[in-house]
Amino acid sequence: MVMGVRLAQSFFNKNNSGSYDRLVRLATLGQDMKWKKKLVQSVPNGSLVLEMACGTGILTSLLKQNNNIVYGIDLTFEYLSVLGEKRIEIDSINGTAEFLPFQDRYFDCIVASYLPKYVNLNVLVSECQRVLKQEGLLILHDFTYPKRLAYQLAWKIYFRIIKTLWTLDKKWTSVFNGLDELIINNHWDSEINSILTLNGFVQIRKDFQTFETSTIISAFKDE
Ligand SMILES: C[S@@+](CC[C@H](N)C(=O)[O-])C[C@H]1O[C@@H](n2cnc3c(N)ncnc32)[C@H](O)[C@@H]1O
Repeated sequence: MVMGVRLAQSFFNKNNSGSYDRLVRLATLGQDMKWKKKLVQSVPNGSLVLEMACGTGILTSLLKQNNNIVYGIDLTFEYLSVLGEKRIEIDSINGTAEFLPFQDRYFDCIVASYLPKYVNLNVLVSECQRVLKQEGLLILHDFTYPKRLAYQLAWKIYFRIIKTLWTLDKKWTSVFNGLDELIINNHWDSEINSILTLNGFVQIRKDFQTFETSTIISAFKDE
């Protein structure tokens, strides 16, 4: 099975960068915006924020509305180009979140939406710990496979429907062919607790969203 950076590179590219915003809005039935607004509520206004995997800048726009200064990093150049076309005031870097090109204790807050399932969490959390200020806030959000059986059944039906709907759109075929298995087999939300604790994070909070189909996890750096 292809993992990590190679998997992300096979999913996100110049063919689908232009249709990503529409896809995520439609495929999540509008829930994506709700989840992102929830995430942003936890970021104190006026923070110096690093957004990992900023992509086309959907979350970035929301962060900017609250007077935050935002830096972004993303693996996919073409996704950053779409962000650039939106003229959002942000310094963005084309690179991997597992190696953050910033000095120690730089940011008040680090956020990411839909990144955890693509990365080595040990490396990611350790890098976040390094570049966060003391008492800095880390917030990670991603899809999760529901824990309850009834929700699992509903999730599988929902996924079958969206897979069928997007069969004809070749730009997204490889993503929909692999995403459900990835979400089912990835346990980032359970694994991250001990990784955060090992890296000196405290006040770990887990918020399930929309029938447990996505999860927001936040924690403070305690040093
Ligand atoms: C589903 S998109 C999400 C984009 C954005 N966060 C959002 O919520 O709309 C996933 C993004 O993660 C980026 N990505 C995946 N692995 C990465 C890594 N190791 N470092 C930085 N970005 C990564 C991809 O390039 C892609 O832009």
